[in-house]
Amino acid sequence: MLSKIVAATTNPGKVREIKKILSDYEILSLADVGISVDVEENGETFRENAYIKAYEISKLCNLPVLADDSGLEVEALGGRPGVYSARYAGEDSPYSVKISTLAEELKDVPELERRARFACALCLILPDGRKIEAQGLSCPGILLEAPRGENGFGYDPVFYCPDYGKTFSEMSMEEKNAVSHRNAALLALLNKIKGENL
Ligand code: IMP
Repeated sequence: MLSKIVAATTNPGKVREIKKILSDYEILSLADVGISVDVEENGETFRENAYIKAYEISKLCNLPVLADDSGLEVEALGGRPGVYSARYAGEDSPYSVKISTLAEELKDVPELERRARFACALCLILPDGRKIEAQGLSCPGILLEAPRGENGFGYDPVFYCPDYGKTFSEMSMEEKNAVSHRNAALLALLNKIKGENL
């Protein structure tokens, strides 16, 4: 019976979201299990990267390990930056620079054609090697030229959701969670866990 899950992330915001949705399980952080490694995310898809992270961490502990990978897909850029979202415009560049570089790339694209969405892939690996995967998409968005709002992180200030009339940064955490890619993927994963009676 599944009881403890190690969340293979150092991002406290992600751990909080995972705890909220997988509330039937004891969610442990990497620090809780004494693991500190930097796994190289060299996959070409979110799904591959989530698997790489879960697999590398599961080799270091005898517990179920859950990893995620996510990013921003811009339709007019053929899905870029995608898996490279965190490394876009240089790994160490601040989000102000990533956002202005994106605006520059999209300067000739009319606002209504700047469709984008966030995607998230999750991979749970059990100590016996079984693998459970799930994916989720955010609500549809349009990329704004100038940032709006104070909340969230990453590309949130320019990700405008027409259905809500707000950017992700203008939403409260609860509002964003209700329409976020990670939330959708976590709910899909929870369904699979329950469905397989793990
Ligand atoms: P990772 O999943 O931690 O590797 O992060 C991928 C990158 O995608 C983040 O560094 C952000 O640039 C971007 N990203 C993923 N989810 C979100 C989100 O909910 N809001 C804003 N940016 C995000």
